[in-house]
Amino acid sequence: METLERKAQEPLLEVRGIRKTFVSQGLFRPRRRVVAARDVSFGVDRGEAVALVGESGSGKSTIARLLLRLEAPDAGEIRLNGVDVLEREPRRASLAYRGRVQMVFQDPFGSLNAVHDIEHHLVRPLKRHHRTNGGGVRAQAAELLRTVGLEPAEEFLARHPYELSGGQRQRVAIARALAADPDLLVADEPTSMLDVSIRMDILNLLAQLKRERQLGILLITHDLASARYLADRVLVLFRGRVVEDGRSGELVENPAHPYTRALLDSIADTGEERARAGGTRRSATDPAEVGCPFASRCPDVMDVCREADPEPRAVGERTVRCHLYEEGASAPGSVSG
Ligand SMILES: Nc1ncnc2c1ncn2[C@@H]1O[C@H](COP(=O)(O)OP(=O)(O)OP(=O)(O)O)[C@@H](O)[C@H]1O
Ligand SMILES: [Mg+2]
Repeated sequence: METLERKAQEPLLEVRGIRKTFVSQGLFRPRRRVVAARDVSFGVDRGEAVALVGESGSGKSTIARLLLRLEAPDAGEIRLNGVDVLEREPRRASLAYRGRVQMVFQDPFGSLNAVHDIEHHLVRPLKRHHRTNGGGVRAQAAELLRTVGLEPAEEFLARHPYELSGGQRQRVAIARALAADPDLLVADEPTSMLDVSIRMDILNLLAQLKRERQLGILLITHDLASARYLADRVLVLFRGRVVEDGRSGELVENPAHPYTRALLDSIADTGEERARAGGTRRSATDPAEVGCPFASRCPDVMDVCREADPEPRAVGERTVRCHLYEEGASAPGSVSG
């Protein structure tokens, strides 16, 4: 069987055309099919950070769960280090796969077990993923804590999660993910439950790991500012679709899709970093829906938008799904301010 180990000549992660549909089970509402991810394609390379940005319900965590193999896509392909993983292990992810792709969650307290000390949280994955070496597993656990900036490490090993601050707990969660020696870290809103003052520290830690370990990072956030800070590339998701995909600096400075502009405006308008663009949780796409899913909220809406769902188009070095841009259009932002 092909090995999932890293191979220099292969891209780290390639996701092609993945789709995930759910049937919502509202108790008093009729059952409804929602497309939480539709034709989503992207890649993450070693030492690259890619951000998935979008409002609540846009499908960000669904994509994370598909990558972690906690859910299976209805269609599409996931290649890791060149290996088609859904073909290799169709039913459930192998231990080898779970070692290569690790997750950091939003709530560092919920993801750590209050009963156990920090040493236990780190020794377990080291053993499970067979990462122990001759130097002693406790020493390895301490080294992981130094890597994430928790010193004196020996002292932190003996503490329990409730004896740590939120930021320190998130550092432990990152150390635990690193214990498996992953190639890809999926971080779902890793800073949104932390004090504003320490969010930057965690982003800086992730940036350092990306650089020093050539770690690939998929950062999931509703906050374009953090996306821009950490990520090399940003994918903007709206109702399960990637509506804009480009280099983070260009995309934030000169957004092409009206939805990306709305996300940016909502940061400016409220003065908050929580760019929820409206605030309420919106439903994913109804498969029966026609036209562009953003049409009803779009300030630039045209007749065609209510009739046909736009295909992804190349706009300069960017990909945009919007009728404002014809094939080969060059200058995002030239259509309207
Ligand atoms: N297990 C499920 N069963 C039914 N519907 C689901 C399920 N998981 C997700 N959905 C629906 O899929 C859509 C996308 O949800 P998802 O959790 O991926 O969004 P999100 O972008 O992570 O949102 P948030 O910012 O609130 O975390 C939503 O409409 C959600 O209701
Ligand atoms: Mg989510």
